[in-house]
Amino acid sequence: MRILITGANGQLGSALREVLTGQELILKSRPEFDLTDPACEEQIRAARPDVVLHVGAYTNVDEAEREPERARAVNVQGTACVARAADSLGARLLYVSTDYVFDGEKTTPYTEEDPPHPINQYGLSKYEGERAALNLCRNTLVVRTAWLYGYTGKNFVKTIMRLAAEKPQLEVVADQRGCPTNAEDLARTMKRLLAGDARGICHATNGGECTWYDLARAIVRQMGLTTVVRPITTAQAGRLARRPAYSVLSQQRVSALCGPLPDWQDALARFMKRMPSPVPAAN
Ligand SMILES: NC(=O)c1ccc[n+]([C@@H]2O[C@H](COP(=O)([O-])OP(=O)(O)OC[C@H]3O[C@@H](n4cnc5c(N)ncnc54)[C@H](OP(=O)(O)O)[C@@H]3O)[C@@H](O)[C@H]2O)c1
Repeated sequence: MRILITGANGQLGSALREVLTGQELILKSRPEFDLTDPACEEQIRAARPDVVLHVGAYTNVDEAEREPERARAVNVQGTACVARAADSLGARLLYVSTDYVFDGEKTTPYTEEDPPHPINQYGLSKYEGERAALNLCRNTLVVRTAWLYGYTGKNFVKTIMRLAAEKPQLEVVADQRGCPTNAEDLARTMKRLLAGDARGICHATNGGECTWYDLARAIVRQMGLTTVVRPITTAQAGRLARRPAYSVLSQQRVSALCGPLPDWQDALARFMKRMPSPVPAAN
């Protein structure tokens, strides 16, 4: 099976490369492969994959408020190109999407049947990307995940690991609830989903739920530090993009399809054990 990965050097792309070692992989990344260049459609066709793991995306949630057109170009038009190419080859498409397609008004886990209602530009572009993937490629599975962290690139877990070692006190948002997800666990789940033939939408995060504040406290605790973590509100954090107050995703479908992902605490502990400390500032 020939598996093409877009965004192959990102957090999830890197985890997929590791988990899929031994398979025939076609890795696509910038600058040679740019989702905003219509030529990317032909580049995929020429590679003749059986499966496309479309992981590449514009992922800067706050910047997307400043440049929504760029977010759309990558996440909507780029995804449309990928989906058309996959469909013309009769290939299977897995498109990775986000909990930020929801508005956060619910208080119980969002299921795949809940109607999306994005409240920021990133979420809107990913939702329109989902529509493009599902409408333009017959054999599509949208995999929605959340609060992703991996060894490559920047993420909340690595940032807190670094800051907790440097500062006596941290302020972290305590009024957003979701579920942190270890990129390696998601990559393993995607590998298992590839063995089946599910289509449509499937939520996939680590198990359980917490706030960013709970997550930061768990990180500090595991590091054995005395750093004080102070809870603040979303309004106090003053970020550019709005974020859903609650975006826990139901794990019922993924559990039925290929078994549940591990709980977030277990996933975090495994990640931190492998992550070199101190975490380099560039990361
Ligand atoms: N991070 C999260 O918390 C989170 C949460 C929910 C869902 N997701 C979704 O999960 C997927 C993987 O996220 P991630 O955290 O692995 O993201 P990431 O680390 O930011 O990786 C995204 C990759 O996409 C590539 N990319 C960006 N613009 C591109 C373009 N115009 N053409 C080609 N490639 C481009 C980037 O290339 P460069 O390396 O050149 O920048 C990067 O390698 C994304 O679809 C994202 O929307 C992420």
